[in-house]
Amino acid sequence: MKVLIIGTGYVGMNTGVVLAYLGNQVTCLDVNEEKIAMLRQGKSPVYEPHLEETLQLVMNKIQFTSSYTEADIPNTDVVFITVGTPSLPDGNADLRYVRQAAESIAENLGEKFTVVVNKSTVPIGSGNWVEAIMHEHFNSNHDGQKADFNVVSSPEFLAQGSAMHDSFYPDRIVVGSQCERSVERLQELFSPILRQDFPAPPGLPRPEGLTEVPLLVCDLTSAEMIKYAANAFLALKISYVNEIGRLANKVGADIQAVSKGIGLDKRIGNRFLSAGLGWGGSCFGKDTAALVATARDYRLEMPIIESARAINYGQRVLAVDLLQEKLKILKGKHVALLGFSFKPNTDDLRDAPSIDISKLLIQRGALVRAHDPVALTNARSHYGDIGVVFCNEVGEALKDAEAIMLVTEWPEYRELDWESIPRVPIVDGRNFLDRERLEGLGFPVIGIGR
Ligand code: UDX
Ligand code: UDX
Repeated sequence: MKVLIIGTGYVGMNTGVVLAYLGNQVTCLDVNEEKIAMLRQGKSPVYEPHLEETLQLVMNKIQFTSSYTEADIPNTDVVFITVGTPSLPDGNADLRYVRQAAESIAENLGEKFTVVVNKSTVPIGSGNWVEAIMHEHFNSNHDGQKADFNVVSSPEFLAQGSAMHDSFYPDRIVVGSQCERSVERLQELFSPILRQDFPAPPGLPRPEGLTEVPLLVCDLTSAEMIKYAANAFLALKISYVNEIGRLANKVGADIQAVSKGIGLDKRIGNRFLSAGLGWGGSCFGKDTAALVATARDYRLEMPIIESARAINYGQRVLAVDLLQEKLKILKGKHVALLGFSFKPNTDDLRDAPSIDISKLLIQRGALVRAHDPVALTNARSHYGDIGVVFCNEVGEALKDAEAIMLVTEWPEYRELDWESIPRVPIVDGRNFLDRERLEGLGFPVIGIGR
């Protein structure tokens, strides 16, 4: 099929590269010309394992443009909207980019039936809104013609750091539409994934036993809601374990053991039960805020989700409090932060705990040096002015440190030459380091919830 992807962020790039790999003719459009120039050279503007390698394999099936005319919408079968939907200060999603994309698609529609798939996380009800905008724009540009398109919601569940794997081998595909033609077309487009009959790409072996992926077809509004409800559930699982962790810390229990014990119950499951600094990233914070804001429009409260948010952001303060308790005086102390991205295997800093923690430490008078294996370029360009010294080498961050805080569980931090590092207190914000060994070496180690 001929596919157009609008927006080359994490979601757009993964979708585009995967669909090209599966044999479709893909065009990726982005208003950011710098990104397009990079992509034309086979370089990914975002850091995501396997993305660039797979992109280079499919360069003959994928093209990049910033022009809607060049994108050839009249001959396109499926258009994906994957632009960003950042949070506004009141928690609602900023739909400006979705609106621009919808208007531009409508202006350029041809006579052929086009399926427009919304993959950006938009507030519940936005599918209808996109459709209305498109009709309005189409009418003002196509005298007397009848528009032939349908807007579908197919939310994306990929997690950064494992995005390629999640796109080739998803747990499910959700298609929200009551238009039979759209559902059929998408079923055909996704069929290699649903049937799992494509050759696994290099470096991305198919999980053992995976022979098919379930497709859930439902109405548009339910599909939109599934995305929010899934993310909010994962977010509250994390906050739940962090809340239990706070109590564990008081009563002398170890949250690692508690998590393991509850996770072995198959009804609960062992994933998303790691206590620590809590969630960050582009989705959980934004989506839980949007869900609460939507509920408010209907004069409904969402106390579980609101509490999950409060607990999550409280964990960042808790980590700084724990360090202060240990050092007594933070003023003038050198603190080394290990990791700055919101989680390992990504250079994304959106809602990263590192940012709040740095600001809080600096506010309380500490001197902060931070290292990250891949996120420093982003850190310098977006957070160059918050007072953190960003260090290219981890040794530089650790030099003269009077305390260490592990913020992101990059594997290389476990493998540091700990023997050669002065024995200063370590706050292990992810309960990730080899605590026994470090304590054996003489480091005071403070975990979260232990
Ligand atoms: C995605 C989803 O879109 C979002 O809804 C979800 O909640 C998080 O994941 P992501 O792909 O990470 O977001 O977004 P971002 O990195 O902001 O990329 C969006 C891209 O769209 C950018 O490259 C931006 O330049 C581009 N864009 C934006 C357009 O091409 N056109 C526009 O009008 C606006
Ligand atoms: C998430 C969802 O997993 C994905 O399905 C959705 O499409 C987008 O949002 P992502 O934000 O990329 O993906 O990362 P995820 O792996 O879910 O981690 C989110 C945050 O939770 C990270 O900051 C991570 O460190 C934290 N986390 C995760 C915990 O604190 N404890 C856990 O047990 C798991």
